[in-house]
Amino acid sequence: MNIKNFLLVCFLSVVASANAQQSSDAKMNSFIDNLMRRMTLQEKIGQLNLPSVGFDVTGPVLSQGVEDKIKKGLVGGVFNTYTPEAVRKLQQMAVTQTRMKIPLLFGYDVIHGHRTIFPINLGLAATWDPVLVEKTARAAAEEASADGLNWVYSPMVDITRDPRWGRVSEGSGEDPFLGSVMAKAMVNGYQLNDLSKDNTVMACVKHFALYGAAEAGRDYNTVDMSKVRMYNEYLPPYKAAVDAGVGSVMTSFNTIDGVPASGNKWLLTDLLRNQWGFKGLVVSDYTSINEMVNHGMGDNKKVAELALNAGMDMDMVGEEFLNYAEQLVNEGKVPEKTIDDECRKILEAKYKLGLFSNPFLYVNEERNKKEIMSQDKLNLSKQAAIESMVLLKNKDHVLPLDRSSRIAFIGPLVKDQRDLIGSWSGAGDYTKAISIWSAIEQAGYKNVLYAKGCNLVDDPDLIKQLNPHGAMLIPDSLSPQQLIDQAVRTAYQSDVVVAVLGEPFGMSGEAASVTDIRLLENQRNLLEALKKTGKPIVLVLMNGRPLDLSWEDANLDGILETWYAGTMAGPAITDVLYGNANPSGKITMSFPVNVGQVPVYYNHLPTGRPYKADQKYTTRYLDAPNDPLYPFGYGLSYTNYNYSSVALSSNTLNTGGSITASVNVTNTGDRAGTETVQLYMRQMVGSISRPVKELIGFQQVALAPGETKKVSFKVTDDDLKFYNSNLQYNYEPGDFKLFIGTNSRDVKEADFVAR
Ligand code: BGC
Repeated sequence: MNIKNFLLVCFLSVVASANAQQSSDAKMNSFIDNLMRRMTLQEKIGQLNLPSVGFDVTGPVLSQGVEDKIKKGLVGGVFNTYTPEAVRKLQQMAVTQTRMKIPLLFGYDVIHGHRTIFPINLGLAATWDPVLVEKTARAAAEEASADGLNWVYSPMVDITRDPRWGRVSEGSGEDPFLGSVMAKAMVNGYQLNDLSKDNTVMACVKHFALYGAAEAGRDYNTVDMSKVRMYNEYLPPYKAAVDAGVGSVMTSFNTIDGVPASGNKWLLTDLLRNQWGFKGLVVSDYTSINEMVNHGMGDNKKVAELALNAGMDMDMVGEEFLNYAEQLVNEGKVPEKTIDDECRKILEAKYKLGLFSNPFLYVNEERNKKEIMSQDKLNLSKQAAIESMVLLKNKDHVLPLDRSSRIAFIGPLVKDQRDLIGSWSGAGDYTKAISIWSAIEQAGYKNVLYAKGCNLVDDPDLIKQLNPHGAMLIPDSLSPQQLIDQAVRTAYQSDVVVAVLGEPFGMSGEAASVTDIRLLENQRNLLEALKKTGKPIVLVLMNGRPLDLSWEDANLDGILETWYAGTMAGPAITDVLYGNANPSGKITMSFPVNVGQVPVYYNHLPTGRPYKADQKYTTRYLDAPNDPLYPFGYGLSYTNYNYSSVALSSNTLNTGGSITASVNVTNTGDRAGTETVQLYMRQMVGSISRPVKELIGFQQVALAPGETKKVSFKVTDDDLKFYNSNLQYNYEPGDFKLFIGTNSRDVKEADFVAR
């Protein structure tokens, strides 16, 4: 085919697919018009109601009398109900016992896997592997959709820079570029661009917006930030999810410019719908409409009015819409057209999910048996766990373990299963998770000793707070000192100690903020006692946030961050410890020197008084450095990589053009490994002060020992764009720097001019 014909064929196929889209939209619209003509106002309002039916509660209210309401047509969807049997029962009720016979949506918090649990999202981000992350979302969608669900409350894309906040575990960390890449990967994995398939589910990007910026890292606390920061740093991942076609958006609990997100018209209508062109449905967070009363926005009726007029479509658990919407319409405070528009969004979602053609599309016992925890998903879970692990320290190559030496595995997490799957592992079954100790036994590693060493938690007050929410913290019959003595005796019999410590899973996730990000005191006491034995010590960490590891970094030989690695944690961790796999993960949130540095993140603005060691009046602390202990993008390998200097194809980037930046990366060690090569840039002069570094690209290269590969990045003017103080998105000509390196700190640089 000659080029002209080829272009003609391309053009015609674009036109054909646009036409097909238009005609399927027209079909949907006429179906919904027809349906809505026959619905009463009350039935339309019923569609906006989303109660919880099941056992999970994340707020103070649990929905009451749901079955009755379903029968009356006062429910649009439910969440926390899954399994084909349970879903069939409620769906049957909706499509046979209601006047309009409209099927229900079935939502659930599928956050890092559904039944097969993958590493927590902060760990998944540390893989820097969006293809893998997309696969985990796909696997989760296959399981969820085979379990009766058609809607998942994921991805959580809040930018997080404060490790005191427990929910940092649910997102991708501090960087908007990486966060956007991961947001898109997850939406694609869940939705496959076609909600009507029986194995795809509607994704829900959350928490819109800025929830990660809660002051002092305290959950549900105030957020306040400039628009410039919002647009450049916090909004991009939500927008990436919208651009990827996410079907729904969940609002956040916080205020934005003083108005809670759930009643914020600027956010939900001006920005989301009008500027970004979002066409899907907007759902509140758990009772977040009601909570506007506590925010001081008015009484229950007033906050329902605010939410409806702001563009909120669905009310999760709170039932403010059910209670007040009709009255508000009758009083002329909410136009009936607003209710119509909101109801339409929900019906459209149901239509796109194929529920009007087959309400039981996702209720399939056979698929359930085939999909849930299938071997391919377990393999993927192990692979994701391995790729998520970050080697933070490895003095004198203490890792991988030498199989001929005697190894003492010490710590309450060596045999633990519950904590491996982390928080937000709703339908995950921890009894199916494989512990480190079981993995050691299964693999037949010899020369291993075990001691518990300490309780996971000693503090009775913390135990009292965590146990009602699924923790099973029971103090050992031995006293803390007896546990330590036993561990020290075990350590003396060994050549190397592997201490497996961290946070109980309940210290991560929602409502799990802390002010001290060190390991718990009893665990620190154990490590100090082990240190006195003089044996080399490797710390294997399970936790959901960046910790203050200053003491551990200064005193221990190896540190391996494993997050909460999921169902296959044990085999994955032992593969890494014993060298069957080479760690390649890199942290996506800076690990501070201590909690006083927080928030500390790599892409900050320059100050007018940059740090100078010998000058008092520069930006600094008297008692700590400015830089974190481990910077964004940091992670070691069992091998080493050498970076050449950066070569540019040209020092000038013209409008619409591009330049190529390349480095040669060499594996200088004796093991194969995968390195994530990171590209950052800095605009030297701008109409507003610009960050000292911004990630604009990354690539993974697999390198055999001694091998060198050239890694090239194409840089275009799109990569230089940002929102200026008028919120115009463009680039500004001038001087730029590019940096390429193994993390955000250790980089090689080159200069260019953009014209
Ligand atoms: C959380 C959401 C979650 C919802 C439903 C809320 O408390 O903030 O992330 O999706 O509960 O369980």
